[in-house]
Order: sequence, then C-alpha cells, then structure tokens
Amino acid sequence: MPTPIENKSLKQLNTFGIDARARYFSGFSTAEELADLLEWAGSRRRLILGGGSNILLKEDVDGIVLHNAIRGIELVNEGPEHVYVRAGAGENWAAFVAYCIGRDWAGLENLSLIPGSVGAAPMQNIGAYGVELGSVFLELDAWSLGERKLCTFTLGDCEFGYRDSVFKRRYRDEFVILSVTFRLRKKPIFHTAYGDIQQELQRMGVRDLSIRAISEAVIAIRRSKLPDPAQIGNAGSFFKNPIIPNAQFAQLREKFPDIVGFPDPLGKNTKLAAGRLIEQCGWKGYRRGDAGVYDRQALVLVNYGNASGKEIYRLGEEIAASVEKKFGIVLEREVNVVP
Ligand code: EPU
Repeated sequence: MPTPIENKSLKQLNTFGIDARARYFSGFSTAEELADLLEWAGSRRRLILGGGSNILLKEDVDGIVLHNAIRGIELVNEGPEHVYVRAGAGENWAAFVAYCIGRDWAGLENLSLIPGSVGAAPMQNIGAYGVELGSVFLELDAWSLGERKLCTFTLGDCEFGYRDSVFKRRYRDEFVILSVTFRLRKKPIFHTAYGDIQQELQRMGVRDLSIRAISEAVIAIRRSKLPDPAQIGNAGSFFKNPIIPNAQFAQLREKFPDIVGFPDPLGKNTKLAAGRLIEQCGWKGYRRGDAGVYDRQALVLVNYGNASGKEIYRLGEEIAASVEKKFGIVLEREVNVVP
C-alpha cells in the first residue's frame, strides 16, 4: 500500500487552482490499493479526487484525499459495428478521446478537450456540442465503500440525465469509479447540428466530414470560449442551464426579449442559456480580488491566481441571487462544492 503523506497542498490537483490542503493524501493505482487505503483511513473524512476539474474546494480537507491514478486503455471486445473499449478511471479524458480518434473509433469527438478524468465523466454525464457521455457508455466498474466490493453499473443503472447521474444523487460518496467501458462505432454518426460546430467547420473549409475534423472544430471552439485551466483556474460551467416550462419561457421573453433559450428534445421545456442570464445581470468580466467571471463566457467562474475557495463560492452565491432577483430563475450549481 502507498504511504499517505501529510499536509499536502491540493493546488495542482484541482483545475480551479485553489490552495486547499489535505491532512493526508495518497494516490492509488489499483482497487486493492484503494481498499487498503480506505482501511487505513478508518472513520476519517475521505475525498476521492479524479481530475479535479469539477470541484470547488471551499476549505482544507481534514481527512484523507485519495487520488485516482488507475490507468490503462484496452480494447475488450469487437462486433461488426462497434468496438468496446475500457479505460482506467485515472486516465486523462482529453487524452483518451484523442487516443480513440487516432484509431478511428467514433463517438467521442464532440467531447474533445473536456478537462478531467475518465472516471469523473459518468459522475455528471459530461456533455458538449450536442453529445452526452450516456450515448457512448456501456458499463462501469466501481468500488462500493459501504459493502467493500466491486460492482458493475450498466447504462440503466447510472440514470443519466442532464449533467446528472445516480452518483451525484442517491449514491453520492458511496462508490469509487474504477474503470469505464465505452461502446464506440466503427462507422461514425456525425453530430454537427450545434450552430457553433457548423460555423467552425465552414471556417476551417472542411469538405469531407470526419471525426478528426469534428474534434478539431470542437477543440477550436473550446479554446476560443473557455479558459485553459493551465493558465486561468476554472472548472468549466459553474452552473447548469436551467430547464423551464415553455409557458414560463414565453412569459419571460415578453419581459426580456434578449433572453436565450433552446427547445428541450422532449418538446415541453426550454433550456435557458445561464451564461446569458448572468451576462444580462452585468457580471461578465467582473473581478474581485482574484475571483472573477470569465470575460468570454459568463457561465465560467475563474481564479486569476490566489482566490480562496470561499471567495469563488461567495461570488457564485451573489451571481445566483442576482439572477433570481432579476429573472425569478434559480440557478443550480454544476460544480461540486467540497465539503
Ligand atoms: N451566452 C451568452 N453569454 C455568455 C455565455 C453564453 O449570451 O456569457 C449564450 C451564447 O451566445 C449561446 C448560449 O448562451 O447562445 C449558449 O452558450 P454556449 O454555446 O457557450 O454553451 P453553454 O450553454 O453556456 C454548455 C455547457 C458546456 C458545453 C457547451 C457546449 C452546461 C452547464 N454547459 O454551455 O459545458 O461545453 O454547452 O455544448 O450545460 C461544462 O459543463 O463545464 C461545460 C463547459
């Protein structure tokens, strides 16, 4: 078993770049190491960390932080139309996507360059540019903290929703994801309906559509709109886009003609662009100390260097309060706040 170290700064291990400390810290690269470390930790508070790209550390962790470093990518099965690929939860997501694209395994191209790890992806059913993880997911293996055994979750078991899964709700903090198996296509199905992608592909002058071209377009869009965590601390969208009934959207639009909403696939609801609501409340580009709102995408809160988790958290609370006051819309956080 690896020996836990004491009083470790987590600044390099969360993309917000918050300098919170862990009382104890250790990585683990196998399920056995995880089980041993959990045993060692006893009843201490524990936090399992993946890529650290969707958390806000509000304070130090007075317990043990366990960093998932389970690696490996493996072709586990192949059918006439599909390949089945298993990846360790500690693999970097963007590198895994690039690996699959390099082998012409299709399905992940719209999810290119999302920060974080493979194991964190199912937690919140990551999605971008018209594709969600659920559409390429076969199953995952997870360690049950309560029962101390390995469990397999199929697609149905995960109850994926918009940035949502059982692991965010009913089973919160009860399982550690160890590996994820994907069902990828040998022949691609292209998803290019998202306006930004069409524009970018045109700008790139792409004639023969391919998963490589889509991936390049997605990467270019993300680079232009979203801050690179290596340069400016952030965890992507801080809030979810609120989903409201069409009737409520119609009323809002009478009062606020500039409001942006997209019809939900099921027809009854509208997904509001939260970034737009935040922008309309005047927050875009706002900065207080080192905590701020990104100037090219108001849905992203940023740490310009030494903001504390509490400062970012408070800014988020103020933003949500002002959106509620102006539009009567309650923003739900997308980022997980710890503790
Ligand atoms: N908009 C504004 N002002 C802003 C930001 C956005 O007016 O400051 C408008 C845009 O003009 C556009 C609409 O809002 O009409 C939507 O913006 P965008 O396409 O940038 O996407 P988003 O809804 O803000 C979501 C995801 C992103 C994902 C993109 C692309 C959520 C919470 N966020 O953002 O995911 O990359 O769509 O699919 O669903 C993440 O989850 O961390 C994340 C970055």
